[in-house]
Order: sequence, then C-alpha cells, then structure tokens
Amino acid sequence: MLIYGFALFWLTSVTTVETNSDVEVRLLDNQNAPLMASFDMSKANDRVKQFVSDAIEAKMKGIEKNFNQQIENIERNFTVYFTDYLHGIADKIVKENDKTKVTKLKPRGCEDIIPKRNNGIYTIFPNSNDNGFEVYCDFETDNGNWTVFQRRINGTTDFFRGWEEYENGFGNLKAEFWLGNRKISELTSIGKHELRIDLTDFDGKTGFAKYSTFSVGNGSTNYTLTVDGYSGNLGNTFGLYLNNGMSFTTKDRDNDNWSSGNCANYRNGAWWYAQCGYVNLNGRYLQGGQIDSNGINWYHWKTSWYSMKSSVMMFRKVH
Ligand SMILES: *[C@@H]1O[C@H](CO)[C@@H](O)[C@H](O)[C@H]1NC(C)=O
Ligand SMILES: *[C@@H]1O[C@H](CO)[C@@H](O)[C@H](O)[C@H]1NC(C)=O
Ligand SMILES: *[C@@H]1O[C@H](CO)[C@@H](O)[C@H](O)[C@H]1NC(C)=O
Ligand SMILES: *[C@@H]1O[C@H](CO)[C@@H](O)[C@H](O)[C@H]1NC(C)=O
Ligand SMILES: *[C@@H]1O[C@H](CO)[C@@H](O)[C@H](O)[C@H]1NC(C)=O
Ligand SMILES: *[C@@H]1O[C@H](CO)[C@@H](O)[C@H](O)[C@H]1NC(C)=O
Repeated sequence: MLIYGFALFWLTSVTTVETNSDVEVRLLDNQNAPLMASFDMSKANDRVKQFVSDAIEAKMKGIEKNFNQQIENIERNFTVYFTDYLHGIADKIVKENDKTKVTKLKPRGCEDIIPKRNNGIYTIFPNSNDNGFEVYCDFETDNGNWTVFQRRINGTTDFFRGWEEYENGFGNLKAEFWLGNRKISELTSIGKHELRIDLTDFDGKTGFAKYSTFSVGNGSTNYTLTVDGYSGNLGNTFGLYLNNGMSFTTKDRDNDNWSSGNCANYRNGAWWYAQCGYVNLNGRYLQGGQIDSNGINWYHWKTSWYSMKSSVMMFRKVH
C-alpha cells in the first residue's frame, strides 16, 4: 500500500510538471514547421499525459507485486531463522545448565527435542498454532533426529487399507504404523528433508537406503512423492526412483500409471505406485521370507520378491 501511495504521488507530480513545458518543447523540436502549424497541441498534451501515466502505472504495479513477494519471503525466512535461533539458544541453555530441565519451547519436530533422550514417542508442534501431535523419534540410528513414519515388525497391523486411513494414519506408534500422509506432507513441506529406509530379512541381515531429498505433496496433489539422491546398499536400480513424481494410490483411489488395473489391489498395499514398481513396503506381512510380489518387497536387494521381516521408513530435516 505504501509503495502504491508513493507511486500515485509520483505519477501526479511527474505528469503535471512535464505536460506544461518540457514535453511540449521536445515535440515541437522534432516536427518540421508546416506540420507543426496544423498540430493541435492540447490533444497532443493529453496523449502524452496518458502515455506517461499508463507507463508509470504499469511499472509501479510490477514493482508493487515484486515488493510484496520480497516482503513475504523475508517474513517466511525470518520466522524460520528466528525459530531456529530460539531453539539453538534453548539447546545451549539446557546443555550448560541442568540437563534434565525441559525447555518450555514447543518442538516443531524430532530435531528440536531437547535434551535428546531415548528413542520414543514425543509430541511435536510443526505449526505453533495447533495442539500438536505424537510422533516416534529415533535418536540412535545414523546420528538421530529421525521422524519414523512407517514401521513393520511382525504383522500385527493390517496395512491393506483405504485412502482415508492412509491419509490420517493408523496403527500403534510403539509397534506397527503408518503416520499418515497428511502429517508426512505437513512435516516434509517445511524446509528440506532426507529419507532413510531400513530393512531386515528373516536371517537378520540388514540393508538401508538413503535419499538426500524427500517430500510428500499435500492432499490436492494426491500426496505426490519427491525423492532423489540415493545412497545405501539396498540398490536403487529398481528402487524408489521409479516412484518419484507419482501420486499415492490405495485400493479405493487409483492414481497409478498401470492401465490394466489398480496396483494397490494387485500388490495388496498402498504406495506411490507407477506400474506397479519394485518396491512395496506397505504390502502384506508374510512369515519366514516367502517370495511373493504382494509382500514387503525391495526387489533389487534380493533380486526377487522376497518379503521382509521388518521395514522402517523415516525422515529428518537437513540443515
Ligand atoms: C529466503 O530464503 C531462501 C532460501 O534460503 C533464499 O533463497 C531467499 O533469497 C531468501 N529470501 C529473502 C527475501 O531473504
Ligand atoms: C539434530 O538436531 C540438533 C538440534 O537439536 C542439531 O544440532 C544436530 O545437528 C542434528 N543432527 C543431525 C544429524 O541432523
Ligand atoms: C508385535 O510387536 C509388538 C511390539 O513389539 C508387540 O506388542 C506385539 O505383541 C507383537 N505381536 C506379535 C503377534 O508378535
Ligand atoms: C498444495 O500444494 C500445491 C502445490 O505445491 C499448492 O499449489 C497448493 O497451494 C497447496 N494447497 C494447500 C491447501 O496448501
Ligand atoms: C487425485 O486423485 C483423484 C482420485 O483418484 C483424481 O480424480 C484426481 O484427478 C487426482 N488429482 C491430481 C491432482 O492428480
Ligand atoms: C507415468 O505416466 C506419465 C504419463 O504417461 C509419464 O509421464 C510418467 O513418466 C510415468 N511415470 C512413471 C514413474 O512411470
């Protein structure tokens, strides 16, 4: 508003000054004498006035838009940096003083939990206006700060569920669960995140995959997956990269790339299926290392449809 007011002021002052003498003189100089004689100077003045004011208005609108965007960016950046700063100070105070004293600042995510305690369930407040919700934080694996959003360990929880349940989450945070697409999306949309997946087979062999970029879009994108930057030993050749850019598909919402049917039904799970892909970590829990493409698969690790004993998926903020 301020800049627009200024623009109007400038517009008025510029047009009044210029039309009276300067512009008129320049126009006259540029014409040859006979033409000039028949030229109606009052109309020319009006046209010049209109031209100048249109040009200035267009320019000012552009400047105003740009300016507002900058202000928005600065506000957003400031909120993020300031909250980071406060958490940093709180972290220091806790470290320097009584380590058992818990700060009153609401943690936005697992990385803000101080002091770092054991793996477990904590309430976080990603949006300071909300009441927050519970998540399982892992502070032990690979330097910690992980928010676990999927866990399979023994098949107690059924994962063959519909859209709404995958959206809101289900299961038991202490055991098997899916945190919920809405929360995963909300948490991964603030800042940059990495993804880690840990799998165990029935012989106790473990494998992992890490992706330096991970986010899940909001509900209006059907929770589109963005994943990139693989490292680990599970193999990415048939890994998540095939699912990159895909919407989420459940047995009652078919957003996959397979023209012959719904991959969720075909693979007994729910996932960012393409057609239908080589990873199926929400598939059926099968005992004893069965080979089955409806199971908990990561094809490239076993070069078969081996169904895993356990699967853990988690993300953490990257600074
Ligand atoms: C806000 O932060 C982003 C990312 O750090 C940066 O690219 C951008 O220039 C910043 N914008 C402003 C207005 O400070
Ligand atoms: C974990 O979070 C703390 C802030 O509480 C940060 O200082 C630390 O660098 C983070 N570690 C990793 C591995 O992200
Ligand atoms: C599965 O694991 C959870 C958590 O350890 C445990 O509470 C539950 O009893 C187990 N269920 C079976 C069938 O083993
Ligand atoms: C959802 O995400 C899209 C794409 O990032 C964005 O344009 C849209 O504003 C978001 N909708 C809501 C309700 O946040
Ligand atoms: C989201 O999914 C619904 C139902 O499958 C579909 O009709 C809609 O087009 C999808 N929207 C986007 C943005 O992919
Ligand atoms: C899914 O289908 C679309 C449209 O045919 C295509 O552009 C996209 O590359 C496909 N994605 C995958 C992962 O196969």
